[in-house]
Amino acid sequence: MKNLNNYIKKLEKSLEDKLFFLKHIDINDYSLVVEFGCANGRLLRRIEPVIDKEVTKLVGFDINEEIIEIAKMISPEITFLTKWDEVLDILKNTTKKSLIIFSSVWHEINPQYYEKIFNEMKKFTTIVIRDMKEPIQSAEPIDAPTRDRIKKMVPEWQFDEFEAKWGRIDNKKTLYRFLLMYTYLDNWDNEINEDYFSTPWAEINWTLEKDYDIIYLNSYTLEYKKTEIARIFDHHMKDITHHQVIYTRK
Ligand SMILES: C[S@@+](CC[C@H](N)C(=O)[O-])C[C@H]1O[C@@H](n2cnc3c(N)ncnc32)[C@H](O)[C@@H]1O
Repeated sequence: MKNLNNYIKKLEKSLEDKLFFLKHIDINDYSLVVEFGCANGRLLRRIEPVIDKEVTKLVGFDINEEIIEIAKMISPEITFLTKWDEVLDILKNTTKKSLIIFSSVWHEINPQYYEKIFNEMKKFTTIVIRDMKEPIQSAEPIDAPTRDRIKKMVPEWQFDEFEAKWGRIDNKKTLYRFLLMYTYLDNWDNEINEDYFSTPWAEINWTLEKDYDIIYLNSYTLEYKKTEIARIFDHHMKDITHHQVIYTRK
């Protein structure tokens, strides 16, 4: 990754929103909290002050070894791992409830791993997921003046590369994809290839509905994005951009 620091700063912007689950569960009920795709561990660091260290163990897991090394340096008191088997060893010795958090990670997961991850997440008592969701009226057309206004505000190469990859910005889905993506200029080469709306929300639900209750569900427009987009593009985002859900075993 070209500029890891800027990438991490961008992730931090939405941190408050990512901590939504703290209002809906008692974190001290859990003796193990695992964040799947934890990056530099920012989210776990924010949870740390509210846990009882005698009761709850925090574990961050990520496939990116470089970012996990950074996480370990910043927070040596939190366990950071790149091998899932090591997470499972800790889970095996957990006698009370366990929690797994998927924050902005499902959209990065290759579909060939879905089934495996469904099976792994079912080993936890409670599952927290937050990620992007495509607008419900995704096929709704976007008029040419809106496209032109947006085009004027970003580098020409970025706009052209985006349209070459994801198609002309003439419907809501493509527009929202661009508005969520354009800001990651430093990491553009990776970001442009991420399918932001790929989180398999329905499949996740089918997998869990038999054994889990939904204790919290929310589809919404990310507030800081709405403000940023209105300021920069003079465009008012009224549709859903994100989804949050908490499942707990029946
Ligand atoms: C957008 S970041 C989100 C970081 C953090 N969860 C947050 O919400 O700020 C996604 C992270 O998921 C990691 N990731 C992607 N696919 C993964 C996988 N299959 N297993 C573990 N980590 C994964 C990436 O390396 C990256 O650090």
